[in-house]
Amino acid sequence: MVSTLYSMGVNGVEAFLVKIESDISKGMPACDIVGLPDSAVKESKNRVRAAMKNCGFKFPLARITINLAPADVKKSGTLYDLPIFMSLLHASNQISKELNSSIFIGELSLKGDVCAVSGVLSMTLKAKKLGFKNIFVPFNNAQEASVIKGINVYAIKNISELTSYLLNETELKVYSSDIIIKKPENELLNFSQVKGQIEVKRALEIAAAGGHNVLMIGPPGSGKSMMAKRILSILPEMTFEEMLETTAIYSSRGMLKSGTSLVTQRPFRAPHYTISTAGLCGGGSPPYPGEITFAHNGVLFLDELSEFSRSALETLRQPLEDGYITISRAQSSITFPSAIMLIAAMNPCPCGYYGHPSVPCTCSAWQIGKYMSKISGPILDRIDIHIEVPSIKFEDLNSSDINETSEEISKRVNQARNIQIERYKRHNILSNVKLPSHLISEACPLTPDAEKMFQNAFNSLSLSARAYSKVLRVARTIADLDGKELISTNHISEAIQYRNLDRKYLFHLNA
Ligand SMILES: Nc1ncnc2c1ncn2[C@@H]1O[C@H](COP(=O)(O)OP(=O)(O)O)[C@@H](O)[C@H]1O
Ligand SMILES: [Mg+2]
Repeated sequence: MVSTLYSMGVNGVEAFLVKIESDISKGMPACDIVGLPDSAVKESKNRVRAAMKNCGFKFPLARITINLAPADVKKSGTLYDLPIFMSLLHASNQISKELNSSIFIGELSLKGDVCAVSGVLSMTLKAKKLGFKNIFVPFNNAQEASVIKGINVYAIKNISELTSYLLNETELKVYSSDIIIKKPENELLNFSQVKGQIEVKRALEIAAAGGHNVLMIGPPGSGKSMMAKRILSILPEMTFEEMLETTAIYSSRGMLKSGTSLVTQRPFRAPHYTISTAGLCGGGSPPYPGEITFAHNGVLFLDELSEFSRSALETLRQPLEDGYITISRAQSSITFPSAIMLIAAMNPCPCGYYGHPSVPCTCSAWQIGKYMSKISGPILDRIDIHIEVPSIKFEDLNSSDINETSEEISKRVNQARNIQIERYKRHNILSNVKLPSHLISEACPLTPDAEKMFQNAFNSLSLSARAYSKVLRVARTIADLDGKELISTNHISEAIQYRNLDRKYLFHLNA
């Protein structure tokens, strides 16, 4: 008799349906699993055999063939233990209940305990989309699965619990839990601790409000890393959609903390500059996601930007632009999401003191040109705001003035972000940074004075065409923070200030 039931697989962060067919025929006792299983899937039969014996069932002594369809897609992981177990019980008539409207996922221990697996959120979402009524998941994954409404989630601790339910001996309750929005993990990081640096904080507020990428340039010890680490405390709250997307990524790699249902805080990833291109952008075979994907809907902080390998920075270009990265392999290609806010920090030159008011810079023009050229092409194209971070003055450090807290800043950021969401709701965009070129003139109306000023600045500073749209996007955010629909001269002039690299380092960039 052939028994059919359903499970899931994950390709990248997307789930796909897997049909499990078991056939028991007369012949020499043997058990074959076909349908491109990896070694973990092949070993499944050993776990299933032991679990069956230890839970009081009989492993059929016959010729068993288990097919995982679609047969031409690789199956990996241990999640097929539970569905194979159920399928064999069904095929050998030890359970008669129809199981076709359910999905089974879970690893088995030899005793019959059901252990957690990766990717449960994406699988539950897919199961719901495909119209399945029930999903049976390991108890430790139930929190994550219960985020998806409209499908019955059953949390299974061990196989006996499930089999006695299916044999109508006991009840099994549908699992449900409330989504808990956790407070930021590191509440200790607050902008109130950053003394002085008013202009830099202002620029970071604008960046947070419009989702703009930022490059901070300043001498060592000026507080670049300190401020970057506090950016999460002023970013707008995540939408539910964003939470689901980010959770699916962490879930697919088994990186969700146990008992967590959703990632409710924007991720902050700060890889060291020795990271490989694959580590940053994803790679390998089968392809795994890189830091840029783990930072999806959050912040990727590249400290000491000029120390990253040129190829890693080059590869960042496309995912920064598109918000996703596609990794192609001979047999398949996988797309990972990568909509991030990039924060980069670097010294102005190799010695760190170019432009410093008191410490002389010891670098030659050629050295500075070489240093800057590393980041000029690949990355600069994608950064809207360049901020010069001056070294901190003694008076600022010593002052007992009370600084603005992150909560106060984030109130303004949220207001400005809501204006953007409202403005772009027809276009499915959340922030100014995503504003496509063809919508710029419609979304960024300038007063006549502002237009004249922009024209003058554009010519006298020899701004490039790419700088043109960046200035307008940033000016749009500044006007939104100001609660104004029309962009006026002060908005434009402030936005032009953030083209620091185009102005100050133009000589070196062209060198
Ligand atoms: N504006 C500031 N207010 C308070 N402390 C500061 C400030 N700037 C720098 N510091 C102190 O100096 C240390 C070094 O700053 P850091 O952010 O690592 O500098 P950078 O990354 O620019 O080299 C910080 O950990 C902090 O203790
Ligand atoms: Mg630093």
